[in-house]
Amino acid sequence: MTSINNIKVLISEEKIQARVKELGQEITKKYEGKELTLICVLKGSFLFYADLVRAIRLPVRCEFISVSSYGAEKTSSGEVKLALDISTPLDGRDLMIIEDIVDTGLTLKYIRELLSVRNPASIACCALLEKPEARKVEVPVEYRGFTIGNEFVVGYGLDYDQRYRELPFIGLCE
Ligand code: IMP
Repeated sequence: MTSINNIKVLISEEKIQARVKELGQEITKKYEGKELTLICVLKGSFLFYADLVRAIRLPVRCEFISVSSYGAEKTSSGEVKLALDISTPLDGRDLMIIEDIVDTGLTLKYIRELLSVRNPASIACCALLEKPEARKVEVPVEYRGFTIGNEFVVGYGLDYDQRYRELPFIGLCE
């Protein structure tokens, strides 16, 4: 395994980029003829979102939402707080929540419930990573990049105490 600054590469930049292209193609096929509203969950999804938006060949609208549950810890506080909401009406729109990682599932469940009461035509989620062993609540993830073990990862948007977001790969933070 290669390592940079004590961060061991778990998923390489090449693998991420190839998978993002595949996800883009899958989503394009599924929503053919429609306009999709892509919701970036800040901050962790910003790189994945920017790449995925360009891999989807559909008319899209870009929206941003921010929630927090971690602070400077490596485990979820279990309490999800809304820091930035979407101000545009979402009635009749096909929504896709773009998440960096689904860990306990609490954040995604909160966001899905928040958006579902705004009368969208549909809601789906595309997560770059999923940790099935850490799941605490049932919540659907329609599209996923990679499944990983119950370990803390950084890079490609993901942080530990606001660091390492700039790494182009997903690494293990020890
Ligand atoms: P959940 O609510 O426990 O599913 O956590 C979701 C959020 O926690 C993600 O959107 C991330 O911002 C953060 N998170 C969960 N696991 C990790 C990790 O391994 N590294 C960095 N952030 C993580």
